[in-house]
Amino acid sequence: MTFTLTDHLGPVDAGAALEADVRAGLTATRKTLPPRWFYDERGSELFDEITRLPEYYPTRAEKALLAEHATDVAAATRADTLVELGSGTSEKTRLLLTALAEAGTLRRFVPVDVDPTVLRAAGAQITEAYPGTAVDAVVADFTVHLGELPQEGRRLVAFLGSTIGNLEPAPRAAFLSSLAATLRPGDSFLLGTDLVKDPDRLVRAYDDAAGVTAAFNKNVLAVLNRELKGDADPAAFEHVAVWDAEQERVEMRLRSTRDQVVELTALGLTVPFAAGEELRTEVSTKFRRPRVEQELAAAGLRLTHWWTDPAGDVAASLSVP
Ligand code: AVJ
Repeated sequence: MTFTLTDHLGPVDAGAALEADVRAGLTATRKTLPPRWFYDERGSELFDEITRLPEYYPTRAEKALLAEHATDVAAATRADTLVELGSGTSEKTRLLLTALAEAGTLRRFVPVDVDPTVLRAAGAQITEAYPGTAVDAVVADFTVHLGELPQEGRRLVAFLGSTIGNLEPAPRAAFLSSLAATLRPGDSFLLGTDLVKDPDRLVRAYDDAAGVTAAFNKNVLAVLNRELKGDADPAAFEHVAVWDAEQERVEMRLRSTRDQVVELTALGLTVPFAAGEELRTEVSTKFRRPRVEQELAAAGLRLTHWWTDPAGDVAASLSVP
């Protein structure tokens, strides 16, 4: 059927957002950068490699969950429109699309991602594989443009891959509230979350033996160097993954191996690092059911279903306004 692509994110927006994030994050006392900037072409490739690592269970676990429960999702929602936030390659989404198509309700798929290239590729494939389904892709930052997503139909909004774990508690609550505000009776929200488990396993998933996650983490330095005319030396930083038991999250950091300064010429910014100083590049929050249920409720969403993969490693929750 038809394929359309709507862009809410010009290159100008992306450039300004990177600049704002870098100015705020690298001049703070505790340096941070949002994980969004990992994902240039190389970063997306490395993430794809991560999803196939023996230590990185979340992607396989969520696929197993959907293989088992996609028909339950379709039966519970009877959605005609699937909106997927952070859709990427939409590989796992096919399980949902197939279940909704087989239930006879599916009319339209709306993949939403910051990367137009991945949307075009995935959109073309899905248009071909699901002939009766309109594919209307949207280039957008789901933390900003939720209000601009299509409002028609009986919608299932899916936010999979534990991406919500990247948000800290306050932005997470804000995100869930603005999402809830766009949902109407009949709509539903499918949320994928990674679950709290043995800390050793969690840390290994973010510090794999082959060093792919280390390369992925350091790739953000290459992005700064290219986009902001920087001179960061990836060899002068170490990949660090730690489990924060109190906040129940894995943090990825880049630790400076020596006293050094990084120049970001395009911003006229000089960033000093002391030896051992860490730049936090990602938080990956792990959940338990009560917290998911309570955070959804705080946003005005009522949890109706909770599914896990056979091994109990990840969960998907369905909630309604
Ligand atoms: C894509 C955000 C779910 O947090 O597990 C993988 C990204 N970072 N390895 C995650 C990631 C390091 C991933 N998410």
